[in-house]
Amino acid sequence: MSGRIADAGLWRAGLDRIDWARAHMPVTAELGARLRREGTVDGIRVGVSDVLEPKTATVALVLAEAGAEVVVTSAGRNTDDAVAAALAHAGIPVYAREAADRVEDRDNALALLAHRPQVIVDDGASTIRLAHLARPDVVAEMYGATEQTTSGVRPLRRMEADGALRIPVVAANDARSKSLFDNMHGTGQSVVFAVADVADRSLRGATVVVVGFGRVGTGIAQHCAALGARVVVTETDAVAALQAAFAGYEVRPLAEAVRAADVVISATGIRHTIDVAHLDALPHGAIVAVGGGVGQEIALDAAQAAGAVEVSRDGAVSVLRMPSGTEVRVLDDGNCLNVSAAEGNPVEIMDLSFGVQLASVAHLLTERDLAPGVHELPRAADDEVAAIALASFGGALDVPSAAQRAFLAAWNTEEADE
Ligand SMILES: NC(=O)c1ccc[n+]([C@@H]2O[C@H](COP(=O)([O-])OP(=O)(O)OC[C@H]3O[C@@H](n4cnc5c(N)ncnc54)[C@H](O)[C@@H]3O)[C@@H](O)[C@H]2O)c1
Repeated sequence: MSGRIADAGLWRAGLDRIDWARAHMPVTAELGARLRREGTVDGIRVGVSDVLEPKTATVALVLAEAGAEVVVTSAGRNTDDAVAAALAHAGIPVYAREAADRVEDRDNALALLAHRPQVIVDDGASTIRLAHLARPDVVAEMYGATEQTTSGVRPLRRMEADGALRIPVVAANDARSKSLFDNMHGTGQSVVFAVADVADRSLRGATVVVVGFGRVGTGIAQHCAALGARVVVTETDAVAALQAAFAGYEVRPLAEAVRAADVVISATGIRHTIDVAHLDALPHGAIVAVGGGVGQEIALDAAQAAGAVEVSRDGAVSVLRMPSGTEVRVLDDGNCLNVSAAEGNPVEIMDLSFGVQLASVAHLLTERDLAPGVHELPRAADDEVAAIALASFGGALDVPSAAQRAFLAAWNTEEADE
């Protein structure tokens, strides 16, 4: 069978963890069962390009069980070799190795494209973009793609504006069932716990600077505050900054906030958010980490070019001596910490996100005439994912009464004012 993984013998350990995740993913199970019942993905070639850990693996398995021909790739830093082995053992071609460097990562993504996927389920849009650059012949035959995260939707919108996007892409990230939960609660929890764990310190009483107060930054700030930290927020958007102030946080420019920071966490998804001058101005021993998720969100390459040197490394913590002599502790080389140095977001959250991904795949395949461009998941499909999840949490939804519906329907008549 085709594929490129580290060690096929690891499959048992990977499968045990996938089984555990599956047992906690009722939304993914329900939407997968529906795809199977309705034959939506039957015989469709689906490329899954995502973080490769037990929860993501569940989506690949669910799609395969629903009749799709699934192929999987993942960047080395986001790959769990045992999980890769378990998927390969289940008969899914997997191109991913934990030890892969960037060149091998690209080769692996190209190997996925060689299977001529008709749908790509992407996280970060790198495989969608690579397909446009390197395999226009594959793109020409695609039904479309779905995109899981903010930093993937951004370049796709730019491609759309430039007329370069040649397929419909459902912005799964932007569904309310995804970003109001995954980005905020899931990433908030998993990034903050990963920071405390990897840095091996309590956040109680620490001054934590959260850079960016979007959905991810809001969740990070909430979790830091809940753990007893003093939170300072930095923002470039006036409304987001005001929201942070209304939530009770101090709001300062980053250049000022770094001077008293114990920990700085970037949540922007923008390259060079924490630049060399910020690193230089940090107190000795301060910690920097990324909860957003693009390369060089902490400008480490530029810092090294400016003369910073790594003086020691202990696991995922490297100590960087800046030209000023200040030493800062960089967590996991500035990679997206909850994914690269922990197990990603909690399973209940990823269940929702993957429910949205499956609903997005179904939308693409039932509406086959979607124009090239970035599309929202229709509200009804989004609501359905939330309703399934609500039921799994033991909640139940109210339904507007006939009188309430009549009132809403009559908004433009005089009766509505009575
Ligand atoms: N680690 C994960 O598991 C995970 C999960 C979801 C999203 N993400 C990633 O997290 C990042 C943020 O996602 P989001 O949904 O919160 O995006 P968002 O657009 O809602 O928020 C980003 C915020 O950063 C602010 N910002 C931009 N540049 C800034 C700067 N230089 N200084 C201060 N603030 C700045 C923006 O004004 C915005 O408010 C993205 O890269 C996304 O892909 C990671």
